[in-house]
Amino acid sequence: MLEELDLPEPAPTAGEVAVRVAFAGVNFAEVQHRRGEFGAPDGPGGVDVPGLEVAGVVVALGAGVSEPAVGEPVAAYLPAFGGYAEVVTADVRFVRSLRTGAGEVDPAEAAGLPCVYPTAFGVLGDAGRLREGEDVLIHSAAGGVGFAAAQLARELGAGRVYGTVGGAEKIPYTAGLGYDEVFLREGFTERLTEVTGGRGVDVVLDPVGGPIREQSLAVLAPFGRVVAYGDLGRHQQWTASVWDLWKSNRTIAGFNIGDLARRSPERIGQYLAEALRLLAAGRIRSGVTQILPLAEAAEAHRLLETGTGRGKILLSFT
Ligand SMILES: NC(=O)c1ccc[n+]([C@@H]2O[C@H](COP(=O)([O-])OP(=O)(O)OC[C@H]3O[C@@H](n4cnc5c(N)ncnc54)[C@H](OP(=O)(O)O)[C@@H]3O)[C@@H](O)[C@H]2O)c1
Repeated sequence: MLEELDLPEPAPTAGEVAVRVAFAGVNFAEVQHRRGEFGAPDGPGGVDVPGLEVAGVVVALGAGVSEPAVGEPVAAYLPAFGGYAEVVTADVRFVRSLRTGAGEVDPAEAAGLPCVYPTAFGVLGDAGRLREGEDVLIHSAAGGVGFAAAQLARELGAGRVYGTVGGAEKIPYTAGLGYDEVFLREGFTERLTEVTGGRGVDVVLDPVGGPIREQSLAVLAPFGRVVAYGDLGRHQQWTASVWDLWKSNRTIAGFNIGDLARRSPERIGQYLAEALRLLAAGRIRSGVTQILPLAEAAEAHRLLETGTGRGKILLSFT
């Protein structure tokens, strides 16, 4: 259940800053959080504040922090959630200035980057091991991560980039993101086989799971990788046979931003800084398609949950 509440303003502890939030990005993980898929709320008083990413202005510094300074416009990734709030505290390792070497980024665009772009860097580069000239297939091509991954695949020098969507009405929204072709997820193996002349692709980004994961393995070129990073379809756990993998030169890789934040936090900060720089330089688009007031957070969740959203939805606090 989502409910608007008055809570005490949080104060930053050592290594943190407090950010007055201008915009918060909405992610599918927050739908899962609300549905209780990450466990029952365990915040003070049994209340959890969702929200993985925000943009705003630094209003207070915790012990040991001198940068970013008070007044600095920033974007922040929030691994422990909390972004659907007027003020949030954030670990400085996941906070980056909107003033980049390539210019300053508008917070109404920046708020959609901190979770989605490090995820796109991670699934393509770290888990997917994408090399220049390799071909990619991106499931949920018109979603938040899909928008980012297509553009980033181009930046990273991918060869051909294909995408799938759940409904034909979404295909027009993927124009200009760098896709060579986007087709329906249903029956995608036939179309992909056709357009690749039977070779398949080198990397598949799969947040859907179940039969789609299994079919994605089938369309891999030799030494291809399927990157599993979500379970949109809420399918039963599907297991692959190691025998089948080594007998057919195929790989399944996994990516999780929360685990990366715990074990390699500096990498998230680097990816966020790079995404902000690319946005300021006009090399990528933020993918923001809708900005709703906080009071309409439930509607934002409905759009994601029913698969009718596209691009990135933000909540506004201004
Ligand atoms: N592992 C990680 O670190 C990590 C980090 C960020 C996000 N993710 C995952 O990436 C995925 C995308 O996240 P996002 O925030 O960018 O969401 P999103 O793609 O903007 O929205 C969800 C989209 O998923 C698709 N979908 C496919 N099957 C669905 C189903 N059964 N029910 C509802 N939607 C379905 C829908 O589009 P189509 O039907 O057109 O495909 C829908 O629009 C999620 O699974 C999320 O958990 C993982």
